[in-house]
Amino acid sequence: MGRLPLVVRVVSLFCLWVSVSGIGANYGTQQTHPLPPDTVVGILKDNRFQKVKLFDPDTGVLEALGKSGIEVMVGIPNEMLASLASSMKAAETWVAKNVSTHITSNTVNIRYVAVGNEPFLQTYNGTFLTTTFPALQNIQSALIKAGLSSQVKVTVPLNADVYQSSTGLPSGGDFRTDIHDLMVAIVKFLSDNGAPFTVNIYPFISLYDNPNFPVDYAFFDSTSPSITDNGNAYYNMFDANLDTLVWALQKNGYANLPIIVGEIGWPTDGDKNANLQYAQRFNQGLMNHILTGNGTPMRPGPIDAYLFSLIDEDDKSITPGNFERHWGIFYFDGVAKYPLNLGTINSSTLAPAKGVHYLEKKWCVMSPSASIDDPQVAPSVSYACGRGDCTSLGYGTSCGGLDARGNISYAFNSYYQRLNQLDTACQFPNLSIITKSNPSTGTCRFEIMIQPILSSGGKVRLGSLQKRVNMIVFVFLTFLTFQ
Ligand SMILES: *[C@@H]1O[C@H](CO)[C@@H](O)[C@H](O)[C@H]1NC(C)=O
Ligand SMILES: *[C@@H]1O[C@H](CO)[C@@H](O)[C@H](O)[C@H]1NC(C)=O
Ligand SMILES: *[C@@H]1O[C@H](CO)[C@@H](O)[C@H](O)[C@H]1NC(C)=O
Ligand SMILES: *[C@@H]1O[C@H](CO)[C@@H](O)[C@H](O)[C@H]1NC(C)=O
Ligand SMILES: *[C@@H]1O[C@H](CO)[C@@H](O)[C@H](O)[C@H]1NC(C)=O
Repeated sequence: MGRLPLVVRVVSLFCLWVSVSGIGANYGTQQTHPLPPDTVVGILKDNRFQKVKLFDPDTGVLEALGKSGIEVMVGIPNEMLASLASSMKAAETWVAKNVSTHITSNTVNIRYVAVGNEPFLQTYNGTFLTTTFPALQNIQSALIKAGLSSQVKVTVPLNADVYQSSTGLPSGGDFRTDIHDLMVAIVKFLSDNGAPFTVNIYPFISLYDNPNFPVDYAFFDSTSPSITDNGNAYYNMFDANLDTLVWALQKNGYANLPIIVGEIGWPTDGDKNANLQYAQRFNQGLMNHILTGNGTPMRPGPIDAYLFSLIDEDDKSITPGNFERHWGIFYFDGVAKYPLNLGTINSSTLAPAKGVHYLEKKWCVMSPSASIDDPQVAPSVSYACGRGDCTSLGYGTSCGGLDARGNISYAFNSYYQRLNQLDTACQFPNLSIITKSNPSTGTCRFEIMIQPILSSGGKVRLGSLQKRVNMIVFVFLTFLTFQ
Protein backbone atom coordinates (compact mmCIF):
# COMPACT_ATOMS: atom_id res chain seq x y z
CA MET A 1 0.00 0.00 0.00
CA GLY A 2 1.32 3.46 -0.89
CA ARG A 3 2.00 6.07 1.72
CA LEU A 4 -1.07 7.98 2.69
CA PRO A 5 -0.97 11.77 2.85
CA LEU A 6 -0.13 12.93 6.38
CA VAL A 7 -3.56 14.43 6.94
CA VAL A 8 -5.25 11.10 6.16
CA ARG A 9 -2.90 9.28 8.48
CA VAL A 10 -3.55 11.77 11.28
CA VAL A 11 -7.29 11.53 10.73
CA SER A 12 -7.31 7.73 10.72
CA LEU A 13 -5.17 7.73 13.86
CA PHE A 14 -7.71 10.03 15.42
CA CYS A 15 -10.62 7.82 14.33
CA LEU A 16 -8.84 4.82 15.79
CA TRP A 17 -8.41 6.68 19.03
CA VAL A 18 -12.08 7.64 19.06
CA SER A 19 -13.25 4.08 18.55
CA VAL A 20 -10.69 2.87 21.08
CA SER A 21 -11.78 5.29 23.73
CA GLY A 22 -15.25 3.80 23.62
CA ILE A 23 -14.53 0.69 25.67
CA GLY A 24 -16.71 0.21 28.74
CA ALA A 25 -16.69 -1.98 31.84
CA ASN A 26 -19.33 -3.65 33.95
CA TYR A 27 -18.94 -2.71 37.60
CA GLY A 28 -20.83 -5.13 39.85
CA THR A 29 -20.82 -4.81 43.63
CA GLN A 30 -21.71 -8.31 44.88
CA GLN A 31 -18.57 -8.52 46.99
CA THR A 32 -18.12 -9.38 50.66
CA HIS A 33 -15.26 -6.85 50.75
CA PRO A 34 -15.91 -4.21 48.12
CA LEU A 35 -13.24 -1.68 47.23
CA PRO A 36 -14.35 1.86 48.07
CA PRO A 37 -16.20 3.35 45.06
CA ASP A 38 -13.63 6.18 44.79
CA THR A 39 -10.88 3.56 44.39
CA VAL A 40 -12.84 1.79 41.65
CA VAL A 41 -13.51 5.05 39.84
CA GLY A 42 -9.74 5.63 40.09
CA ILE A 43 -9.19 2.31 38.26
CA LEU A 44 -11.68 3.35 35.56
CA LYS A 45 -10.02 6.73 35.10
CA ASP A 46 -6.42 5.50 35.20
CA ASN A 47 -7.22 2.94 32.47
CA ARG A 48 -9.30 5.51 30.53
CA PHE A 49 -12.48 3.51 30.46
CA GLN A 50 -15.00 5.87 28.94
CA LYS A 51 -18.13 4.03 30.01
CA VAL A 52 -19.34 2.01 32.95
CA LYS A 53 -22.40 -0.18 33.41
CA LEU A 54 -23.95 -0.62 36.86
CA PHE A 55 -26.49 -3.24 37.90
CA ASP A 56 -28.27 -0.98 40.33
CA PRO A 57 -28.17 2.69 41.21
CA ASP A 58 -25.90 2.44 44.27
CA THR A 59 -25.72 5.96 45.68
CA GLY A 60 -22.10 5.66 46.86
CA VAL A 61 -20.98 4.46 43.45
CA LEU A 62 -22.90 7.16 41.58
CA GLU A 63 -21.53 9.88 43.86
CA ALA A 64 -18.00 8.63 43.19
CA LEU A 65 -18.70 8.77 39.43
CA GLY A 66 -19.87 12.38 39.67
CA LYS A 67 -17.69 14.83 37.71
CA SER A 68 -15.61 11.91 36.33
CA GLY A 69 -17.16 12.45 32.92
CA ILE A 70 -17.46 8.67 32.54
CA GLU A 71 -20.67 7.68 30.74
CA VAL A 72 -22.94 5.62 32.97
CA MET A 73 -25.51 2.96 32.16
CA VAL A 74 -27.52 2.42 35.32
CA GLY A 75 -29.49 -0.79 35.74
CA ILE A 76 -32.85 -1.62 37.26
CA PRO A 77 -32.86 -5.02 39.02
CA ASN A 78 -35.42 -7.54 37.70
CA GLU A 79 -37.15 -7.62 41.09
CA MET A 80 -38.30 -4.03 40.55
CA LEU A 81 -39.85 -4.61 37.11
CA ALA A 82 -43.30 -5.60 38.42
CA SER A 83 -43.79 -2.46 40.48
CA LEU A 84 -42.43 -0.19 37.73
CA ALA A 85 -44.70 -1.91 35.20
CA SER A 86 -47.82 -1.44 37.25
CA SER A 87 -47.30 2.12 38.40
CA MET A 88 -46.36 5.21 36.40
CA LYS A 89 -45.84 6.98 39.70
CA ALA A 90 -43.28 4.35 40.80
CA ALA A 91 -41.40 4.86 37.54
CA GLU A 92 -41.39 8.63 38.02
CA THR A 93 -40.09 8.28 41.57
CA TRP A 94 -37.44 5.84 40.43
CA VAL A 95 -36.22 8.22 37.73
CA ALA A 96 -36.35 11.25 40.05
CA LYS A 97 -34.41 9.55 42.82
CA ASN A 98 -32.06 7.33 40.86
CA VAL A 99 -31.40 9.36 37.70
CA SER A 100 -32.39 13.04 37.87
CA THR A 101 -30.81 13.71 41.27
CA HIS A 102 -27.51 12.18 40.26
CA ILE A 103 -27.41 14.15 37.03
CA THR A 104 -28.29 17.48 38.61
CA SER A 105 -26.70 17.37 42.08
CA ASN A 106 -23.80 15.01 41.49
CA THR A 107 -23.13 15.75 37.81
CA VAL A 108 -23.07 12.08 36.91
CA ASN A 109 -23.00 11.53 33.14
CA ILE A 110 -25.90 9.05 33.02
CA ARG A 111 -26.62 8.06 29.40
CA TYR A 112 -28.67 4.87 29.65
CA VAL A 113 -31.13 3.20 31.95
CA ALA A 114 -30.97 -0.58 31.62
CA VAL A 115 -34.44 -1.89 32.40
CA GLY A 116 -33.93 -5.34 33.94
CA ASN A 117 -30.99 -7.66 33.47
CA GLU A 118 -31.44 -10.53 31.01
CA PRO A 119 -35.13 -10.74 32.05
CA PHE A 120 -36.04 -13.25 29.31
CA LEU A 121 -33.37 -15.76 30.26
CA GLN A 122 -34.91 -19.20 29.78
CA THR A 123 -33.95 -20.22 33.34
CA TYR A 124 -36.32 -17.53 34.69
CA ASN A 125 -39.27 -19.55 33.33
CA GLY A 126 -41.03 -16.47 32.01
CA THR A 127 -41.17 -14.70 35.39
CA PHE A 128 -40.48 -11.26 33.85
CA LEU A 129 -42.19 -11.74 30.47
CA THR A 130 -45.21 -9.59 31.16
CA THR A 131 -43.54 -6.85 33.21
CA THR A 132 -40.41 -5.93 31.25
CA PHE A 133 -42.03 -4.10 28.34
CA PRO A 134 -44.51 -2.06 30.43
CA ALA A 135 -41.67 -1.16 32.83
CA LEU A 136 -39.58 -0.05 29.84
CA GLN A 137 -42.46 2.12 28.59
CA ASN A 138 -43.06 3.67 32.01
CA ILE A 139 -39.38 4.48 32.53
CA GLN A 140 -39.25 6.07 29.06
CA SER A 141 -42.33 8.20 29.87
CA ALA A 142 -40.77 9.19 33.19
CA LEU A 143 -37.56 10.23 31.45
CA ILE A 144 -39.57 12.35 28.99
CA LYS A 145 -41.47 13.94 31.87
CA ALA A 146 -38.19 14.69 33.64
CA GLY A 147 -36.89 16.35 30.47
CA LEU A 148 -34.06 13.82 30.19
CA SER A 149 -35.12 11.71 27.21
CA SER A 150 -32.60 13.16 24.77
CA GLN A 151 -29.63 12.60 27.10
CA VAL A 152 -30.74 9.33 28.72
CA LYS A 153 -31.84 6.39 26.57
CA VAL A 154 -33.60 3.26 27.76
CA THR A 155 -32.54 -0.24 26.83
CA VAL A 156 -32.98 -3.85 28.03
CA PRO A 157 -29.80 -5.93 28.38
CA LEU A 158 -30.77 -9.32 26.94
CA ASN A 159 -28.98 -12.59 26.81
CA ALA A 160 -28.14 -13.86 23.33
CA ASP A 161 -30.68 -16.63 23.96
CA VAL A 162 -33.48 -14.25 22.87
CA TYR A 163 -32.54 -15.07 19.28
CA GLN A 164 -31.64 -18.26 17.49
CA SER A 165 -30.93 -19.52 14.04
CA SER A 166 -32.99 -22.18 12.32
CA THR A 167 -30.09 -22.98 9.99
CA GLY A 168 -27.18 -22.63 12.42
CA LEU A 169 -25.93 -19.76 10.26
CA PRO A 170 -26.21 -16.03 11.07
CA SER A 171 -28.58 -15.51 8.12
CA GLY A 172 -31.07 -17.89 9.76
CA GLY A 173 -31.34 -15.54 12.74
CA ASP A 174 -34.69 -14.59 14.23
CA PHE A 175 -36.11 -14.01 17.69
CA ARG A 176 -36.95 -17.02 19.86
CA THR A 177 -40.38 -18.28 18.83
CA ASP A 178 -41.93 -18.15 22.32
CA ILE A 179 -41.12 -14.42 22.66
CA HIS A 180 -41.02 -13.38 19.00
CA ASP A 181 -43.87 -10.87 19.01
CA LEU A 182 -42.82 -9.39 22.33
CA MET A 183 -39.27 -8.92 21.04
CA VAL A 184 -40.50 -7.21 17.89
CA ALA A 185 -42.68 -4.87 19.98
CA ILE A 186 -39.71 -4.00 22.20
CA VAL A 187 -37.44 -3.49 19.20
CA LYS A 188 -40.00 -1.16 17.61
CA PHE A 189 -40.24 0.79 20.85
CA LEU A 190 -36.45 1.13 21.11
CA SER A 191 -36.26 2.23 17.50
CA ASP A 192 -39.08 4.80 17.93
CA ASN A 193 -37.23 6.30 20.89
CA GLY A 194 -33.73 6.38 19.42
CA ALA A 195 -32.62 3.73 21.89
CA PRO A 196 -30.19 0.84 21.37
CA PHE A 197 -30.58 -2.95 21.58
CA THR A 198 -28.29 -4.40 24.28
CA VAL A 199 -27.06 -7.98 24.07
CA ASN A 200 -24.73 -10.05 26.26
CA ILE A 201 -22.58 -12.56 24.35
CA TYR A 202 -20.66 -15.38 26.04
CA PRO A 203 -18.50 -17.72 23.97
CA PHE A 204 -17.17 -19.11 27.30
CA ILE A 205 -20.64 -20.40 28.20
CA SER A 206 -20.92 -22.14 24.83
CA LEU A 207 -17.69 -23.96 25.61
CA TYR A 208 -18.76 -24.66 29.20
CA ASP A 209 -22.12 -26.09 28.10
CA ASN A 210 -20.78 -28.11 25.20
CA PRO A 211 -17.53 -30.07 25.54
CA ASN A 212 -17.54 -30.60 21.76
CA PHE A 213 -17.55 -26.87 21.02
CA PRO A 214 -14.53 -26.05 18.80
CA VAL A 215 -12.29 -24.22 21.29
CA ASP A 216 -10.48 -21.96 18.81
CA TYR A 217 -13.78 -20.66 17.44
CA ALA A 218 -14.46 -19.11 20.87
CA PHE A 219 -11.38 -16.90 20.41
CA PHE A 220 -10.32 -14.30 17.86
CA ASP A 221 -7.07 -15.69 16.48
CA SER A 222 -8.28 -18.37 14.10
CA THR A 223 -6.80 -18.05 10.60
CA SER A 224 -9.35 -20.16 8.78
CA PRO A 225 -13.07 -19.48 8.82
CA SER A 226 -15.38 -21.88 10.67
CA ILE A 227 -18.50 -20.74 8.84
CA THR A 228 -19.27 -19.18 5.50
CA ASP A 229 -22.67 -17.60 5.19
CA ASN A 230 -24.00 -15.60 2.25
CA GLY A 231 -20.45 -14.98 1.12
CA ASN A 232 -19.35 -13.83 4.59
CA ALA A 233 -16.55 -15.73 6.33
CA TYR A 234 -16.72 -16.11 10.11
CA TYR A 235 -13.50 -16.69 12.06
CA ASN A 236 -14.95 -16.35 15.56
CA MET A 237 -18.17 -17.05 17.38
CA PHE A 238 -18.59 -13.47 18.54
CA ASP A 239 -19.03 -12.11 14.99
CA ALA A 240 -21.37 -14.96 14.02
CA ASN A 241 -23.46 -14.46 17.15
CA LEU A 242 -23.71 -10.69 16.74
CA ASP A 243 -24.63 -11.08 13.08
CA THR A 244 -27.36 -13.57 13.98
CA LEU A 245 -28.89 -10.66 15.90
CA VAL A 246 -28.34 -8.28 12.97
CA TRP A 247 -30.18 -10.73 10.69
CA ALA A 248 -32.99 -11.08 13.24
CA LEU A 249 -33.37 -7.30 13.40
CA GLN A 250 -33.23 -7.00 9.62
CA LYS A 251 -35.80 -9.74 9.12
CA ASN A 252 -38.23 -7.85 11.32
CA GLY A 253 -37.67 -4.45 9.71
CA TYR A 254 -35.06 -2.88 11.99
CA ALA A 255 -31.80 -3.46 10.12
CA ASN A 256 -30.23 -0.28 11.47
CA LEU A 257 -31.09 -0.42 15.16
CA PRO A 258 -27.91 0.44 17.12
CA ILE A 259 -26.51 -2.49 19.11
CA ILE A 260 -24.57 -2.36 22.38
CA VAL A 261 -22.70 -5.42 23.60
CA GLY A 262 -23.66 -5.11 27.26
CA GLU A 263 -21.45 -7.89 28.61
CA ILE A 264 -18.55 -9.74 27.10
CA GLY A 265 -15.57 -11.41 28.76
CA TRP A 266 -13.94 -14.58 30.03
CA PRO A 267 -13.55 -15.85 33.61
CA THR A 268 -10.21 -16.86 35.12
CA ASP A 269 -11.09 -19.55 37.65
CA GLY A 270 -13.66 -22.11 38.76
CA ASP A 271 -13.57 -24.27 35.61
CA LYS A 272 -10.99 -26.03 33.48
CA ASN A 273 -11.56 -23.53 30.65
CA ALA A 274 -11.50 -20.56 32.99
CA ASN A 275 -7.89 -19.52 33.46
CA LEU A 276 -5.59 -16.54 33.02
CA GLN A 277 -4.27 -17.70 29.63
CA TYR A 278 -7.70 -18.16 28.05
CA ALA A 279 -9.05 -14.96 29.59
CA GLN A 280 -6.13 -12.95 28.27
CA ARG A 281 -6.37 -14.59 24.86
CA PHE A 282 -10.07 -13.83 24.64
CA ASN A 283 -10.07 -10.30 26.02
CA GLN A 284 -6.96 -9.18 24.13
CA GLY A 285 -8.36 -10.74 20.96
CA LEU A 286 -11.61 -8.90 21.53
CA MET A 287 -9.82 -5.61 22.18
CA ASN A 288 -7.70 -6.00 19.04
CA HIS A 289 -10.85 -6.79 17.07
CA ILE A 290 -12.57 -3.70 18.42
CA LEU A 291 -9.46 -1.60 17.76
CA THR A 292 -9.51 -2.41 14.04
CA GLY A 293 -12.84 -0.61 13.87
CA ASN A 294 -13.96 -3.14 11.26
CA GLY A 295 -16.95 -4.55 13.12
CA THR A 296 -18.63 -7.69 11.82
CA PRO A 297 -19.45 -8.72 8.24
CA MET A 298 -23.07 -7.57 8.68
CA ARG A 299 -22.26 -4.53 10.85
CA PRO A 300 -19.04 -2.92 9.67
CA GLY A 301 -17.85 -0.09 11.91
CA PRO A 302 -17.11 0.50 15.59
CA ILE A 303 -18.29 -2.05 18.17
CA ASP A 304 -19.79 -0.55 21.31
CA ALA A 305 -18.99 -2.96 24.16
CA TYR A 306 -18.71 -3.26 27.94
CA LEU A 307 -16.23 -5.80 29.29
CA PHE A 308 -17.55 -8.25 31.83
CA SER A 309 -16.22 -7.45 34.15
CA LEU A 310 -14.05 -4.99 35.98
CA ILE A 311 -13.63 -6.70 39.37
CA ASP A 312 -14.31 -10.17 40.78
CA GLU A 313 -17.49 -10.54 42.84
CA ASP A 314 -17.06 -13.14 45.57
CA ASP A 315 -20.63 -12.87 46.80
CA LYS A 316 -22.29 -13.87 43.52
CA SER A 317 -24.47 -16.94 43.31
CA ILE A 318 -22.60 -19.92 41.90
CA THR A 319 -25.75 -21.58 40.58
CA PRO A 320 -24.56 -21.00 36.97
CA GLY A 321 -21.12 -22.42 37.86
CA ASN A 322 -18.05 -21.85 40.06
CA PHE A 323 -16.59 -19.51 37.42
CA GLU A 324 -19.26 -16.94 38.27
CA ARG A 325 -17.08 -15.25 40.92
CA HIS A 326 -14.06 -14.83 38.64
CA TRP A 327 -15.04 -12.66 35.67
CA GLY A 328 -12.91 -9.64 36.64
CA ILE A 329 -9.93 -8.34 34.71
CA PHE A 330 -8.97 -7.30 38.26
CA TYR A 331 -9.03 -9.43 41.42
CA PHE A 332 -11.32 -8.32 44.25
CA ASP A 333 -8.53 -6.03 45.54
CA GLY A 334 -7.96 -4.18 42.28
CA VAL A 335 -4.79 -6.07 41.30
CA ALA A 336 -4.67 -6.72 37.54
CA LYS A 337 -4.79 -10.43 36.68
CA TYR A 338 -2.88 -10.37 33.40
CA PRO A 339 -1.53 -7.89 30.85
CA LEU A 340 -4.31 -6.41 28.73
CA ASN A 341 -3.89 -3.60 26.25
CA LEU A 342 -7.16 -1.71 26.06
CA GLY A 343 -5.78 0.67 23.46
CA THR A 344 -6.66 3.57 25.75
CA ILE A 345 -3.30 4.01 27.43
CA ASN A 346 0.04 3.25 25.81
CA SER A 347 0.59 0.15 27.89
CA SER A 348 -0.44 -3.45 28.13
CA THR A 349 -0.16 -3.25 31.89
CA LEU A 350 -3.48 -2.32 33.44
CA ALA A 351 -3.28 0.39 36.07
CA PRO A 352 -4.14 -1.20 39.45
CA ALA A 353 -6.17 0.18 42.35
CA LYS A 354 -4.30 2.74 44.42
CA GLY A 355 -4.16 3.00 48.20
CA VAL A 356 -5.72 -0.40 49.02
CA HIS A 357 -5.75 -1.23 52.73
CA TYR A 358 -5.29 -4.90 53.48
CA LEU A 359 -5.87 -6.83 56.67
CA GLU A 360 -2.81 -8.14 58.54
CA LYS A 361 -0.51 -10.59 56.73
CA LYS A 362 -1.74 -13.74 58.45
CA TRP A 363 -3.57 -16.85 57.33
CA CYS A 364 -5.60 -19.63 58.90
CA VAL A 365 -4.31 -23.08 57.88
CA MET A 366 -4.58 -26.69 58.92
CA SER A 367 -2.47 -27.40 61.99
CA PRO A 368 0.61 -29.56 61.20
CA SER A 369 -0.28 -31.75 64.18
CA ALA A 370 -3.82 -32.42 62.97
CA SER A 371 -4.61 -35.55 61.04
CA ILE A 372 -6.54 -35.55 57.77
CA ASP A 373 -8.38 -38.59 59.15
CA ASP A 374 -9.79 -36.59 62.06
CA PRO A 375 -13.59 -37.01 61.85
CA GLN A 376 -14.00 -33.24 62.41
CA VAL A 377 -12.23 -32.48 59.11
CA ALA A 378 -15.13 -33.14 56.75
CA PRO A 379 -17.76 -31.11 58.63
CA SER A 380 -15.26 -28.30 59.24
CA VAL A 381 -14.31 -28.03 55.56
CA SER A 382 -17.88 -28.17 54.44
CA TYR A 383 -18.76 -25.46 56.95
CA ALA A 384 -15.83 -23.27 55.86
CA CYS A 385 -16.57 -23.73 52.14
CA GLY A 386 -20.26 -23.06 52.68
CA ARG A 387 -19.52 -19.67 54.23
CA GLY A 388 -16.22 -18.92 52.55
CA ASP A 389 -15.41 -19.36 48.88
CA CYS A 390 -13.97 -22.63 47.59
CA THR A 391 -14.59 -21.95 43.89
CA SER A 392 -10.82 -21.97 43.30
CA LEU A 393 -10.62 -25.63 44.37
CA GLY A 394 -11.52 -28.41 42.00
CA TYR A 395 -10.34 -29.90 38.73
CA GLY A 396 -8.48 -27.47 36.48
CA THR A 397 -8.80 -24.46 38.81
CA SER A 398 -6.06 -22.20 40.21
CA CYS A 399 -5.81 -24.25 43.43
CA GLY A 400 -6.74 -27.57 41.84
CA GLY A 401 -3.19 -28.86 42.37
CA LEU A 402 -3.29 -28.70 46.17
CA ASP A 403 -3.02 -31.89 48.21
CA ALA A 404 -5.60 -32.80 50.83
CA ARG A 405 -3.98 -30.68 53.58
CA GLY A 406 -3.70 -27.77 51.16
CA ASN A 407 -7.38 -28.08 50.31
CA ILE A 408 -8.34 -28.02 53.96
CA SER A 409 -6.12 -25.03 54.65
CA TYR A 410 -7.55 -23.17 51.66
CA ALA A 411 -11.08 -23.66 52.94
CA PHE A 412 -10.19 -22.58 56.49
CA ASN A 413 -8.37 -19.48 55.26
CA SER A 414 -11.14 -18.40 52.94
CA TYR A 415 -13.60 -18.47 55.80
CA TYR A 416 -11.18 -16.74 58.20
CA GLN A 417 -10.46 -13.88 55.77
CA ARG A 418 -14.11 -13.37 54.96
CA LEU A 419 -14.70 -12.91 58.65
CA ASN A 420 -11.98 -10.27 58.76
CA GLN A 421 -9.52 -12.56 60.54
CA LEU A 422 -11.74 -12.91 63.57
CA ASP A 423 -9.87 -15.15 66.06
CA THR A 424 -12.93 -17.33 66.53
CA ALA A 425 -13.08 -17.93 62.76
CA CYS A 426 -9.87 -19.96 63.01
CA GLN A 427 -10.95 -22.30 65.77
CA PHE A 428 -11.88 -25.43 63.93
CA PRO A 429 -11.65 -28.07 66.69
CA ASN A 430 -7.96 -28.90 67.12
CA LEU A 431 -7.54 -28.56 63.36
CA SER A 432 -6.47 -25.02 62.60
CA ILE A 433 -3.75 -22.54 63.44
CA ILE A 434 -2.91 -19.00 62.42
CA THR A 435 0.34 -18.58 60.48
CA LYS A 436 2.34 -15.57 59.29
CA SER A 437 3.94 -17.50 56.46
CA ASN A 438 2.12 -17.19 53.14
CA PRO A 439 0.76 -20.61 52.11
CA SER A 440 0.21 -19.50 48.46
CA THR A 441 1.88 -21.72 45.86
CA GLY A 442 2.15 -21.44 42.10
CA THR A 443 -1.16 -20.27 40.67
CA CYS A 444 -2.96 -20.69 44.00
CA ARG A 445 -3.51 -17.46 45.94
CA PHE A 446 -4.34 -17.74 49.64
CA GLU A 447 -6.00 -14.37 49.83
CA ILE A 448 -5.75 -11.68 52.45
CA MET A 449 -8.91 -9.61 52.47
CA ILE A 450 -9.03 -5.87 52.24
CA GLN A 451 -10.25 -3.80 55.14
CA PRO A 452 -14.01 -3.41 55.25
CA ILE A 453 -15.30 0.01 54.21
CA LEU A 454 -16.03 2.33 57.12
CA SER A 455 -19.19 4.33 56.68
CA SER A 456 -19.26 7.97 57.75
CA GLY A 457 -20.54 7.03 61.20
CA GLY A 458 -17.47 4.83 61.71
CA LYS A 459 -19.57 1.71 61.44
CA VAL A 460 -18.37 -1.16 59.33
CA ARG A 461 -20.36 -1.57 56.13
CA LEU A 462 -20.76 -5.31 55.94
CA GLY A 463 -21.64 -7.23 52.84
CA SER A 464 -24.94 -9.05 53.14
CA LEU A 465 -23.16 -12.39 53.31
CA GLN A 466 -21.04 -11.29 56.19
CA LYS A 467 -24.06 -10.15 58.15
CA ARG A 468 -25.52 -13.60 57.72
CA VAL A 469 -22.19 -15.27 58.54
CA ASN A 470 -21.62 -13.29 61.72
CA MET A 471 -24.86 -14.64 63.08
CA ILE A 472 -24.13 -18.17 61.94
CA VAL A 473 -20.60 -18.26 63.34
CA PHE A 474 -21.95 -17.62 66.78
CA VAL A 475 -24.42 -20.47 66.45
CA PHE A 476 -21.75 -22.76 65.00
CA LEU A 477 -19.21 -22.10 67.72
CA THR A 478 -21.85 -22.66 70.34
CA PHE A 479 -22.68 -25.93 68.62
CA LEU A 480 -19.03 -27.04 68.64
CA THR A 481 -18.66 -26.27 72.31
CA PHE A 482 -21.49 -28.66 73.07
CA GLN A 483 -20.18 -31.46 70.83
C1 LIG B 1 -33.75 3.55 43.43
O1 LIG B 1 -33.31 2.30 42.95
C2 LIG B 1 -33.21 1.26 43.88
C3 LIG B 1 -32.70 0.04 43.17
O2 LIG B 1 -33.40 -0.19 42.00
C4 LIG B 1 -34.56 1.00 44.52
O3 LIG B 1 -34.44 0.02 45.53
C5 LIG B 1 -35.10 2.29 45.09
O4 LIG B 1 -36.40 2.06 45.57
C6 LIG B 1 -35.14 3.37 44.03
N1 LIG B 1 -35.64 4.61 44.60
C7 LIG B 1 -36.86 5.06 44.34
C8 LIG B 1 -37.24 6.30 45.06
O5 LIG B 1 -37.61 4.50 43.56
C1 LIG C 1 -37.94 -22.93 36.64
O1 LIG C 1 -38.58 -24.19 36.52
C2 LIG C 1 -37.77 -25.30 36.91
C3 LIG C 1 -38.51 -26.58 36.59
O2 LIG C 1 -39.88 -26.40 36.73
C4 LIG C 1 -37.42 -25.15 38.40
O3 LIG C 1 -36.58 -26.21 38.80
C5 LIG C 1 -36.70 -23.82 38.62
O4 LIG C 1 -36.47 -23.62 40.00
C6 LIG C 1 -37.54 -22.66 38.09
N1 LIG C 1 -36.74 -21.45 38.16
C7 LIG C 1 -37.23 -20.28 38.57
C8 LIG C 1 -36.27 -19.15 38.58
O5 LIG C 1 -38.40 -20.12 38.91
C1 LIG D 1 4.31 3.98 23.58
O1 LIG D 1 5.19 3.10 24.25
C2 LIG D 1 6.30 2.69 23.48
C3 LIG D 1 7.06 1.63 24.25
O2 LIG D 1 7.04 1.87 25.62
C4 LIG D 1 7.16 3.91 23.13
O3 LIG D 1 8.26 3.53 22.35
C5 LIG D 1 6.28 4.92 22.37
O4 LIG D 1 7.02 6.09 22.11
C6 LIG D 1 5.04 5.26 23.15
N1 LIG D 1 4.16 6.08 22.30
C7 LIG D 1 3.49 7.13 22.77
C8 LIG D 1 2.62 7.85 21.77
O5 LIG D 1 3.58 7.52 23.92
C1 LIG E 1 -9.43 -30.85 46.98
O1 LIG E 1 -10.73 -30.33 46.90
C2 LIG E 1 -11.34 -30.42 45.64
C3 LIG E 1 -12.63 -29.66 45.64
O2 LIG E 1 -13.27 -29.70 46.86
C4 LIG E 1 -11.51 -31.88 45.29
O3 LIG E 1 -12.08 -32.01 44.02
C5 LIG E 1 -10.15 -32.54 45.31
O4 LIG E 1 -10.28 -33.92 45.07
C6 LIG E 1 -9.46 -32.32 46.62
N1 LIG E 1 -8.11 -32.85 46.55
C7 LIG E 1 -7.61 -33.65 47.47
C8 LIG E 1 -6.22 -34.14 47.23
O5 LIG E 1 -8.24 -33.97 48.47
C1 LIG F 1 -8.49 -31.37 71.26
O1 LIG F 1 -7.38 -32.15 71.68
C2 LIG F 1 -7.31 -32.34 73.05
C3 LIG F 1 -6.01 -33.04 73.40
O2 LIG F 1 -5.48 -33.78 72.32
C4 LIG F 1 -8.51 -33.13 73.52
O3 LIG F 1 -8.47 -33.33 74.92
C5 LIG F 1 -9.76 -32.36 73.15
O4 LIG F 1 -10.92 -33.12 73.46
C6 LIG F 1 -9.79 -32.00 71.68
N1 LIG F 1 -10.91 -31.09 71.43
C7 LIG F 1 -11.81 -31.31 70.47
C8 LIG F 1 -12.89 -30.29 70.37
O5 LIG F 1 -11.75 -32.27 69.70
